[in-house]
Amino acid sequence: MKKVAVNGITLAVHDEGNGPPILFVHGFPLSHSMWRAQLEVFAVDHRVIAPDLRGFGESDVTEGTVTMEQHADDLAGLLDELNVDEPVVFCGLSMGGYIAWQFQQKYAERLRALILCDTRAIADTPEGVENRQRLAKMVIENGSAAVASVMLPNLFSPATADRDQSAIDELRQTIEATSPQGIAAASLGMAERPDVTSLLPNIETPSLLIVGEDDGISTPEEMRTIAAAMPNAAIFEVPHAGHMSPLENPVAVNLVIQPFLDDLSP
Ligand code: MLT
Repeated sequence: MKKVAVNGITLAVHDEGNGPPILFVHGFPLSHSMWRAQLEVFAVDHRVIAPDLRGFGESDVTEGTVTMEQHADDLAGLLDELNVDEPVVFCGLSMGGYIAWQFQQKYAERLRALILCDTRAIADTPEGVENRQRLAKMVIENGSAAVASVMLPNLFSPATADRDQSAIDELRQTIEATSPQGIAAASLGMAERPDVTSLLPNIETPSLLIVGEDDGISTPEEMRTIAAAMPNAAIFEVPHAGHMSPLENPVAVNLVIQPFLDDLSP
């Protein structure tokens, strides 16, 4: 992992390979490690850049609230520091997708394409905001292991629990190793994120939407609505997968990403 100074903090980043750049942006409350199966495959003919976001993994933590726009600014700063001049394919999962919308709004010229996995366009409901605030308080009081226990049952398809318990155990370890302050700040940041539904018809960027068939957080139905609203988007439903589709069924996910990347070639 490289350590890169960006916007007054240090971000840890996995940066490997040569070729068109792909930026992999993890979900909440995880780290770049969730993309391992994609990094391995796509580093062969791409430059794969997978940071730990502010507050996560080996990156510095900021207390308070960290907005999705702040994360997008961090990513733009990171690309500057890594001398990435070419537009990137931005591949984000869930919170990584919330950040992608902000990146698209602010840094459209730096974007070649979007891969949006298991994410949402709407803002939180008032009840959702309250849940985020409760979680932020709970993690400071009780620690990250408590968040892992609350969240894990919702992240995976029952098929994964049957087939690959080690993937679930590994994700638990990632969450437990995450800073409580980092989790709280991102939770409060997600609560503030705007509804981007009205922006979708103007996003001309080539986009691939990916959703686990058993995703109960960002459901296939909701993601189909997003895809239908975007002028240049395709959607793929991943069998035997829930909210963590790239990790639960990497073979299927990589098989749909590969031709999407091939079609982008200049
Ligand atoms: C994520 O996977 O990033 C979270 O489920 C996002 C959320 O809590 O909305």
